[in-house]
Amino acid sequence: SDTHQFLQDLPKCEHHLHIEGSLSPALLFRLAKANNVPLPDPAFDPSFASLEALEARYEHFTSLNDFLHYYFIGMSVLITESDFESLAYEYFTRAHQDGVHHAEIFFDPQAHTHRKIPYSTVVNGLVAAQKRAEKDFGLTSKLILCFLRHLSETDADVTYQEAVSLGHFSNGIVAGIGLDSSEVGFPPEIFREVYASAAEAGIRRTAHAGEEGDTTYISKALDICKTQRIDHGIRLVEDEKLLQRVAREKILVTMCPLSNVRLRCVTKVAELPVRRFLDEGVRFSINSDDPAYFGGYILDNYCAVQEAFGLSLKDWRFIAEAAIEGSWCDEVRKHVLL
Ligand code: HPA
Ligand code: ZN
Repeated sequence: SDTHQFLQDLPKCEHHLHIEGSLSPALLFRLAKANNVPLPDPAFDPSFASLEALEARYEHFTSLNDFLHYYFIGMSVLITESDFESLAYEYFTRAHQDGVHHAEIFFDPQAHTHRKIPYSTVVNGLVAAQKRAEKDFGLTSKLILCFLRHLSETDADVTYQEAVSLGHFSNGIVAGIGLDSSEVGFPPEIFREVYASAAEAGIRRTAHAGEEGDTTYISKALDICKTQRIDHGIRLVEDEKLLQRVAREKILVTMCPLSNVRLRCVTKVAELPVRRFLDEGVRFSINSDDPAYFGGYILDNYCAVQEAFGLSLKDWRFIAEAAIEGSWCDEVRKHVLL
């Protein structure tokens, strides 16, 4: 349709995409076999009996933690540099088809180093894919290093120091830090010290907050971790003052509509605070989060928003411009994107 074509053609930036969340069940089974990685015994979890069974299971997540259980099993099949390269190149190919011009992708180094896959194997694979995507599609991208919040601050710091010692923040390979995994019970202030080190070093900062957690997770991310973005942030509407502050300070909220439905943060896309954010001038981008798990890539998310809210050209222009202005690329690239 016309709207679909319009949304496809709209120059998009993706800011909330976990590269490990773009691992499809098909690639999961293929790599498990190729790398000899054992998957759970179907006698204990029938979801692993077949490709179809796993795909069906992904349609019935009950919460963030229910999803994360499968997310961490899934990524255990990623072993070699070339596995990470293929994974990321497949994502970039799809993103390009969806009209993405610039992507900032999260990766979870601790989920790999904890199973003896070196940090450099992960990053080298991802960087190889980034270079190919820029050459083949003109798609620019950045990496955002996420800490797993269910692990300790000490563990986050070890990961941070490894990236620092390799010069990955100063040479631009890693554009910033983020915080993901189980939210409730793991508030952002646990990670205050590593965020303070990053702030001092001029490293950009974001954190998942207000997905399942209440508004204190958002305010603590901003006040204590000094984040410049909020990932998800849909519960922001529960605190009017905080909402106005986010608008005033031009904090980018990275929304993930289909993810929020799949993880039962809302029952349908129409419940998301899209209209409220637009009316209050809260800058947000629309993203896919973990597209292989949540049944849609970025364009599907854009279309779901349009279907639910019937936005105007002016609204879409605001969203597209906020996404570009909130990107962590240099001013020259931003100018080209605008
Ligand atoms: N929330 C928290 N952690 C995650 C997510 C998410 O949506 N996706 C992958 N890790
Ligand atoms: Zn996420």
